[in-house]
Amino acid sequence: MKTIHGLATGLACALAAAGIGARAADAWKLPPEKTVLRPGPGRELVLGQCVACHSADYITTQPPLDRAAWVASVEKMRSKYGATVPTNVAPAIADYLAAQYGRKEPAR
Ligand code: HEC
Repeated sequence: MKTIHGLATGLACALAAAGIGARAADAWKLPPEKTVLRPGPGRELVLGQCVACHSADYITTQPPLDRAAWVASVEKMRSKYGATVPTNVAPAIADYLAAQYGRKEPAR
């Protein structure tokens, strides 16, 4: 019959084998960012404000949104997800997003 000590040792070994432990946090690395945002005015602001929590591909994989939708997206990051985008910077970010990842009028 197993002792309590035996069970505890077994559990510790299982956790160690699964990589769960105090050092696990040190070993975990973010995947490298592969997305390159298009050049344009305001790009540096987006890099400064919008890639701390998630990859820039959250931006580049959106369907083309008009400026109002990008304004709403930036506001959602602020109000729902706690992004600390200064209000005086938000319009320039929306300008960049609409210009580079916005809905283009179809050519006539
Ligand atoms: C404080 C963290 C944070 C910051 C800073 C941030 N976001 Fe997000 N963003 C999130 C979270 C959380 C989600 C939702 C992730 C999910 O659903 O998996 C998200 C999702 C998105 C999406 C996907 C569509 C959606 O609405 O879920 C877009 C586009 C986006 N963010 C754009 C931006 C832009 C542009 C900025 C800079 C103004 C920004 N984010 C800054 C946290 C952040």
